[in-house]
Amino acid sequence: MKSAGVTGVVTAATAAVATEVEAQTGPRVIGPGDVPVTLTVNGRRIELRIEPRVTLLDAIRNRADLTGNKRVCDRGTCGACTMIVDGRAVYSCSTLAIESQGKQIRTVEGLASGATLHPVQQAFCDVDAMMCGFCTPGFVMATVALLEKTPNPTESQIRHGLDGNICRCGTFVRILEAANAAKGKVVARG
Ligand code: FES
Ligand code: FES
Repeated sequence: MKSAGVTGVVTAATAAVATEVEAQTGPRVIGPGDVPVTLTVNGRRIELRIEPRVTLLDAIRNRADLTGNKRVCDRGTCGACTMIVDGRAVYSCSTLAIESQGKQIRTVEGLASGATLHPVQQAFCDVDAMMCGFCTPGFVMATVALLEKTPNPTESQIRHGLDGNICRCGTFVRILEAANAAKGKVVARG
């Protein structure tokens, strides 16, 4: 008990000193120039030097040469850039690369196993759920995220799961058909 008391006093004193030092020096500034950023994309470690303001989408498309996910609105409204980060569908155009360090990032390139398409990719092909195809990678990723969490969703859960994505060609009926066709074929995660 005595030793725990001493430790507590020392810890409090250390914290007080740290706070005082920070008050004198201010928070650590990162950037605005290039800084090292390490991303884990589709299980592969990618080391970059980029400005802290660079989005996850731009880092992956422009610096890691993975151009599957698309930049359309670049402001978090269309879903074309959807990636899966730690199991959640995110708009990569509205996420900073630097804050994605230490997380598992998945892009559309990571879905297929060799020549075998992921069941969701296959379903989109089978029912021809695309016209220009520009929104397709984002819809595929959103559908994968949905089915990994809810392998057999209801119609309303599918609509809710995909309501962050827009298809400007209006292929929604076929996209919903593809999501339905992939039901029960995706291994649940987390
Ligand atoms: S490009 Fe990211 S939401 Fe549209
Ligand atoms: S197929 Fe063209 S935007 Fe969706």
